[in-house]
This record gives sequence, structure tokens and C-alpha cells, in this order.
Amino acid sequence: MKWIYSVSLAVTLAMQPAFANELFGQHPLTPEARDAFVTDLLKKMTLDEKIGQMRLITVGPENTKDVIRGMIKDGQVGAIFNTVTRPDIRAMQDQVMQLSRLKIPLFFAYDVVHGQRTAFPIPLALASSWDLDAIATVGRISAYEAADDGLNMTWAPMVDVTREPRWGRVSEGFGEDTWLTSEMGRAMVESMQGKSPADRYSIMTSVKHYAAYGAVEGGRDYNTVDMSPQRLFQDYLPPYKAALDAGSGGVMVSLNAINGVPATSNSWLLKDILRDEWKFKGITISDHGAIKELIRHGVASDPQDAVRVAVKAGVNMSMSDEYYSRYLPELVKNGAVTEQEIDDATRHVLNVKYDMGLFNDPYSHLGPKESDPVDTNAENRLHRTQARDVARKSIVLLKNRLETLPLKKSGTVALIGPLADSHLDMIGSWSAAAVAAQSVTLRQGMSNALANKATLLYAKGANVTDNKGIIDFLNLYEQAVQIDTRSPQALLDEAVATAKKADVVVLAIGEARGMVHEASSQTNIIIPDSQQKLIDAVKATGKPLVLVLMNGRPLALVKEDQQADALLETWFSGTEGGNAIADVLFGDYNPSGKLPMSFPRSVGQIPMYYNHLNTGRPYNYLVPNKYTSHYYDEANGPLFPFGYGLSYTRFSLSDVKMSGSTMSREGSVTASVTVTNTGKRDGATVVQLYLNDQVASISRPVKELKGFKRIMLKAGESQTVSFKIDKSALMFWNAQMQQVAEPGKFSVMIGLDSAKTVNSEFTYL
Ligand code: BGC
Repeated sequence: MKWIYSVSLAVTLAMQPAFANELFGQHPLTPEARDAFVTDLLKKMTLDEKIGQMRLITVGPENTKDVIRGMIKDGQVGAIFNTVTRPDIRAMQDQVMQLSRLKIPLFFAYDVVHGQRTAFPIPLALASSWDLDAIATVGRISAYEAADDGLNMTWAPMVDVTREPRWGRVSEGFGEDTWLTSEMGRAMVESMQGKSPADRYSIMTSVKHYAAYGAVEGGRDYNTVDMSPQRLFQDYLPPYKAALDAGSGGVMVSLNAINGVPATSNSWLLKDILRDEWKFKGITISDHGAIKELIRHGVASDPQDAVRVAVKAGVNMSMSDEYYSRYLPELVKNGAVTEQEIDDATRHVLNVKYDMGLFNDPYSHLGPKESDPVDTNAENRLHRTQARDVARKSIVLLKNRLETLPLKKSGTVALIGPLADSHLDMIGSWSAAAVAAQSVTLRQGMSNALANKATLLYAKGANVTDNKGIIDFLNLYEQAVQIDTRSPQALLDEAVATAKKADVVVLAIGEARGMVHEASSQTNIIIPDSQQKLIDAVKATGKPLVLVLMNGRPLALVKEDQQADALLETWFSGTEGGNAIADVLFGDYNPSGKLPMSFPRSVGQIPMYYNHLNTGRPYNYLVPNKYTSHYYDEANGPLFPFGYGLSYTRFSLSDVKMSGSTMSREGSVTASVTVTNTGKRDGATVVQLYLNDQVASISRPVKELKGFKRIMLKAGESQTVSFKIDKSALMFWNAQMQQVAEPGKFSVMIGLDSAKTVNSEFTYL
């Protein structure tokens, strides 16, 4: 793990005398000291004060700053979110210290998902780096910037495994694979929380959305999940567990139902698994408004009943509704909820406040007033160098016919497309406190890279979509999409004229960020029509065509793949996106990203994931057979497989060398390959290990990722990469829901993507 911020930044800020009272002191940050402290504090609290701690509110029209002041005075609020500047946060903490009886500090939270002031690439892009050091950099800087704004907690990481590109939230997670998502989530938690979430520049994480939110039916947001226990435990739960094992202090509960029971009323998920099996001691938080939604789910009759159900299920804090405060006093009075249940929930809230160090110093993430930044959005609060570095690592080269890329820094380059000069789209959705105007567009990035060496022409070419309904949808809450009012034909004509003047055309196309967000599910996953027409028109000029894709989900790109000479997946790359993409386009950086999700050929193939079961009638394209599992109107398999991504150099793999042909029950074997950079450029790649349990008591996936290593090789250089395989990599949940590793043969597959591998096997004794 790479720690960017050294001790010099771990400034301990002096305690401020205004709040000194018996609660505060230098409490040791140990579980024992915490439990004793919280037990003692609970004894001092009234029922109303305890219920107040269970309420998490957002500042807004319903809860104005004045209303909140009243709540604070009466001990009716435990935490605040969506307030993100030090002066605002300090004012509220001051009120707690000055007005409330017990002076229990508030904690402050926000959706810091891929950066706070600096936007890093969206999480799906981060996963494409397969680089845990890069994730640690993102986590560390995000925590630093968030803590520097006075925040204590983030609603992240989002580790919902998903096989659903139609789902709008696919952009917020780390893709379709359990292992990759677990590694990314763990790295994010460790780097954000640092040695302790109480440290000046660390924040506590709240992993979300527990559980299986990524499996909503048909990719329709907020929908239903119905899943076998084997699949749930094998594929969907491990990333949450990995984040908790890494120490995440919070869990956000998902909005969906699982096998008929909404997560928010699911005591099996929230108590049996989370508390009893996984021994989680932190806090569970409902998602936005989820408690009242229990009525519409049909598991509660009215608001009061919804509160009863949620508390009993184990939801400690309610987000953004007044239900707990309004109904719990009465529910306790009439015995429907016990005071013990209130104590249990409040204890968890106080536990995390203790772990955040708030009882040592409620201002620990604020410092004295005088230290507040003069300009919240000041340029020097950003971390551009690291953002550019991570963004370059997140870019995936999907196609490069006749070495179209890298481009020369000479002649005339035409940059065309609705996303070529868009600041807002570049930072992606859930961009926290990032300021769009501070992002570098592709147009700016290319112009920086070319300086005066070549001519850069620009045309918009098309609006991101011409569909009025979709434009209205995107612009519902903000002016997210700027529409060029010229006619589509006029835009195309200008694009074609621009392309004709150039030696090569770079087309920046894809989605507006709002197309791939919460509540932005799609029935189709294609480039919008207006942009398809743009590609057709520019293609017709015959100029070499580079498609730079900006999008937050796998798209069906069969036609675009045929049209493009080069295809570069850049996702939404963040504040330094334009510079990072230009680095790749002009060869100042050799791309190394790998897809964290399969790209289907068409929407009808969904779900399309690499680790499927073989079935009794697998399709084999070498021996086509009608009565096998496939579609007759579509080629089988994805357009681009999981783990895929090219480089400007080439790599070759040796055969797999096994340390032995057998593995004892508690032993291990090592699989090694030698990777050689056979091309002319230095470059990085990701070596991926997949296993298959050939014969087991239940059908096992054709392959499953069980390890990866990102390596850097100079031109001509070789390196041997080894993976140690032990029992933990072989285990699965059997039909009786026991986690077992069964004896027998295992295939070992190592590749630079999931489809093309070199293979061996061993026998587990
Ligand atoms: C989302 C969460 C988010 C919360 C707070 C909800 O609508 O589902 O992911 O953390 O809002 O912004």
C-alpha cells in the first residue's frame, strides 16, 4: 500500500475549549475502550436523545439550516449529509457544542465515490486499471480532500457486482467479477480509512449497497432480485465481506428486495449474516427514503409499521426521512419496539462516532476557523498529477487496425463529436464536489499535447442525442446537456467539411453522464442515433477514424467496431481526462487497461458474463450444432471479453509451469508463466489467473478469476509471473450451502484476457 500523505500532514489540531466537557478527552481508539465509553454514554441518554442519534438528514428545502439548528438543540439528529464545506460543517458542530444537552458530535457524510474536489475516473474505469496502487492513490486523495472539507464519512465504495449494462449504476461499481470487485473495494476501504478513520486526513467508508443491488431484474433500477443462495454467497456477497474485513465502518442497505424480502426489512441479511456471521460492529444505514418504501414493497402497512419493521430488521440509521424520530417514541411506549432495540441501534451510531475520533475532538476534520480555505474551489486544492496518472491507466484500447494509434503530432487532426469539448460529462456522475469547469476536455487535452506542432480542427458534429424526451430527462434537475440549435444536417455538414481537411479524425462519442446514473436504466445500450449518423458521415470521408468512447456502461458496438480504425474506451475520465486521453492518443502513454465487464454484441445477449456455467449443451463455434445453447440470430459470445485490452506493444505468454501436479488439502501449488514484451515499446499489461473445477458436486463456472498481476515490461523484456493457489481459491458453496473445496481436477488458465489463455491443470487431493 502506498501512503501519499506523510506524517507532516497529519497535523494534530488543538482542542477547542468551547466544547470541553466530561465526554471529551484522549480516548484510546480501541474496541474495549469504545465499548466501555458507549455503554456509559448510553446510560446518560434519554430515549429521545437515542432516537435522535438514529436520524441522518440532508440539508435542503425540507431541512433548512434553521430547522436543523432546532433539531440539534433538541438532540434530534445524529448525522448530516450533503453539506460539504468547512464553514457550514463547523457552524453545525458549534451548535451541537453550544446548544445540545449532551454535546454528542454530529458526523458529516457525502457521496465521495471517485474523488471529492478532484474527480478521478468513474469506478468502472478505475476497475479497468486493474491497479491496486492506483486505487490506493484515488482512495487516499479522495479521503484527504473530503477530510479537508470537514467530512467524516463517505457513501462508498460501491461494490455491487453486476452483469447488467442496462443498469444505470453500473458506472459506480467495479464490474462483473467478484474477485476484481473485492480487491478494488478492499483497496478503497484501506486507503480511505488509512490507519484509522480518526486520522486528520482519513474518512470512514460505508460500503454499499448491501446486498446484490447490481442484480436488479432487467437492469431496472430499484427493482427486484431473486437469486439462488449459492449465487448470492459465491458471486455477490464476497465484495461486501471483503470491504468489511478491510474495516469499513459503515454499510448502506440496498433499495431492492432479495428473494421477496426488501433489504431494509431483511433481518437475515442485516443481523444473521452481517452481525452474527461476519461480526460487523459498525453502522447500518438505510438508503435514501428506503424506510417509507417498505410500505410500497408491501411489507409494512403504514409509516409507523415501516419504522418498526426496519428497526427490528437491524437498520440503525434512517437516511433522509423523519420517520424514526416521528414514530419510534410511540412504538417504544406501546412495546412494539423495545428500548433494547433502540440501544442496540444507538450503540452502533456512537461506536462509529467514537471510531471517527469525534469524542477526542469533534473538530478534528475542521481545525480552527482561520485555517479554512479562502476559496473552496481553489486550484491548489486539486490533485491533477495523480488524476492524470490514474486516468491514463484506466483507458482501454479495444482496437488498433494497422497501428492507427498512436497518432503523430504533425499534420492536421480533426476532433469531432458532442463529447469532445464537454467539461461536465468528463467528470462523470456522482462527481461529489468536483467543479466541471475545472476539468480538462479532450479538445483542451489534445490542444495541450499538440501545442504548435500540428493543426487541431474541431466540430461538434451532432448533439449527444436528438431525442427530445431523453434531452428533457437529462436536463430535469440541471442544465446537463447543452443543445446546439443548428439543424442535425448543418452539424453533420460542418463535421464532414472539417474531416475532409484533416489527415485523421478523432470522434469523441458515447453517452452523456446522466444517461448512466442512478435511475438511468436503458432498454438499449447503443450509441444514440444522432451520433451513429455522425460516424456514418465521417466514415464516408475515408479518413482514418479513431473512435474515442466516453460512456459509463458496456455498449453494443458491433457496427462502430467495423467502422473504426481504432477504438479507445475512455469511460468518464475525470478532472484530468482530456490530458490523459491525449497522452494515450499521441503515444505519451502506452495503454494498459483491461475491461472489467464483457461487452455484449447486442442487448438481447444480456446477461453476458465470462464466468457462466457450461450447461449440458454448450455452443462450440468450431462444431456448430443447432441443439446447443446459443442465439441463432447473433454470434455467440461477447464483442469484447472480460479482461480484454490491447497495448501499443505486444506480449507473448509461455506455457504454464506448475510447481506440482497435485495439491494436498491444506497445501498449495504455484502456476507460473513467462511474459515477454515482443514489441518495440515499453508497456504494462495485466496477467490474469482463472480456475475451473472440472468435476464437482454442482456445476461450476467455466472459469473464475482468482488472481491478477499488473506488470511493466520494457521492449524485449521478459518476466515470470507466479500465482500461488491454495484451498481458498477452490472453495464454493455446495447444494447444502456449505463452503467446501472438493477433491478433483482443476484447470489453470492464464491469459492477458479471459478468452485467450494458456492452460494447465492440477489435482486437488
Ligand atoms: C443512492 C445512494 C446514495 C444516497 C445518498 C441514494 O439515492 O442510492 O447510493 O449514497 O442516495 O446520496
